[in-house]
Amino acid sequence: MMSALDIIRARAGAEPVEAGIVLGSGLGPLADQVSGATSIPYHELEGFPQGGVSGHQSKLVIGMLGGRRVAVFSGREHYYENGNSAAMRPALEALVALGASTLILTNAAGSLRPEVGPTSIVVHSDYVNWSGRNPLIGEHGDARFVDMRDAYDPAIRARLAELSQKLKIPHHEGVYFWFCGPTFESPAEIRAMKILGADLVGMSTVPEVILARRLGLRVAALSMVTNLAAGFKGAEISHHDTKKVAAEGSAAMTRLITALLEGGL
Ligand code: HPA
Repeated sequence: MMSALDIIRARAGAEPVEAGIVLGSGLGPLADQVSGATSIPYHELEGFPQGGVSGHQSKLVIGMLGGRRVAVFSGREHYYENGNSAAMRPALEALVALGASTLILTNAAGSLRPEVGPTSIVVHSDYVNWSGRNPLIGEHGDARFVDMRDAYDPAIRARLAELSQKLKIPHHEGVYFWFCGPTFESPAEIRAMKILGADLVGMSTVPEVILARRLGLRVAALSMVTNLAAGFKGAEISHHDTKKVAAEGSAAMTRLITALLEGGL
């Protein structure tokens, strides 16, 4: 059987990619902007996510965006699907083997700041992993002791701040709290997270940040706020609304990421 990497190279060509982009719920439209695209369904790629969550497309798209050759992961596997926090490891290892040095992660998230409401884009400044899970558990050797200071590349964060201003997209940064799901949080959990320093809450991304840092990638992460978190006045929380609101905000996310690529990584 051909490895995922052999299949990707055979279909998309062997030229290196510069960056990977993981698309969260409702953010699939970014993949449609990739030109000269080769699209490969995950089910043809060994080790890639085989489940699927509605709002995710489950395909790898390789081609040009913002003048760079990119690999767009349209869909991810979440911890809550199979209890495997390292589920994205084979996909991220393939990305590194394709030559990428940068990973841009996106997701849909709840906001714990009422002034940062639905369709806001928030750049991650840090995260809280209070889950007791870590995708590197079971790994041996000293490389597992990964330094998580500046997990989100400071230079990319600075560029995202500048570009947001240029594109007139309101700029926010915040701390993302990983909640394993699949239930949404209880209001009491959200109150606790607020005390622990959270600005955003969501069910993904943090395991991928840890894996990517372990693999030596530079990382940026951006959330599309789809709702205020549980217990906030006016919070509308459902997976249906998550997909709908993220799709509404996806054009701004696509513009920002395209501009980031255009400026060079
Ligand atoms: N909580 C967790 N994950 C989410 C939320 C939320 O409120 N909104 C979108 N993804």
